[in-house]
Amino acid sequence: MTYRIAPSILSANFAKLGEEVDNVLASGADIVHFDVMDNHYVPNLTIGPLVCEALRKHGVTAPIDVHLMVKPVDRIIPDFAKAGATYITFHPESSEHVDRTIGLIKECGCKAGLVFNPATPLDVLEYTLDKLDMVLLMSVNPGFGGQKFIPYVLDKARAVRQMINDRGLKVEIEIDGGVGPANIADVARAGVDTFVAGSAVFSKRNESDPNRYDTIIGQMRAELAKV
Ligand code: DX5
Ligand code: ZN
Repeated sequence: MTYRIAPSILSANFAKLGEEVDNVLASGADIVHFDVMDNHYVPNLTIGPLVCEALRKHGVTAPIDVHLMVKPVDRIIPDFAKAGATYITFHPESSEHVDRTIGLIKECGCKAGLVFNPATPLDVLEYTLDKLDMVLLMSVNPGFGGQKFIPYVLDKARAVRQMINDRGLKVEIEIDGGVGPANIADVARAGVDTFVAGSAVFSKRNESDPNRYDTIIGQMRAELAKV
């Protein structure tokens, strides 16, 4: 299994975002997790396509994983595709027509993912899993960084891994919320391959160099190596 670490820039210093993204990637991160909140679907407000485009213009070439916590969702998808998103994931509750929204993301040339809140059942996967590149499981209720991991989501991860394996698919499983060195191995054992970590990464700068995050990312990789 190839494991990928996806720092959530929600916990980065927005006043110097380009540098923060460069630094976290240079410190060993694989993917940039980009949280989009609208103060409607979730009770917080963050960043939009202009910021995604600015990161690309700044020179970021790593995959950008756009996690849409907005409702409605379709209008903004082509804008994020033009702005350089690699993945676009959305919550099924935020679209009246989930199949159409998945199709729209693909038509725009991006990888598509569905996001499940902790209490949201997985039933829409029955008809959509084979069209998806990623399933994102929320291990906190969306809207804020720094919340506590909800353990029952591990059962959901095992269920999704089983569905993917049973169907012989190659869909990635990402987890988001409250992940850090203390629980990343358990999460991986449940079948997750991609790990979002916001506060765990950005609150732990290297002691020797405040612009680097190698120590914390290294700790997470060391835990993953035990799986
Ligand atoms: C929450 C966001 C997360 C958040 C994770 O709605 O989707 O990506 O930044 O933050 P931590 O890792 O601090 O729980
Ligand atoms: Zn997120």
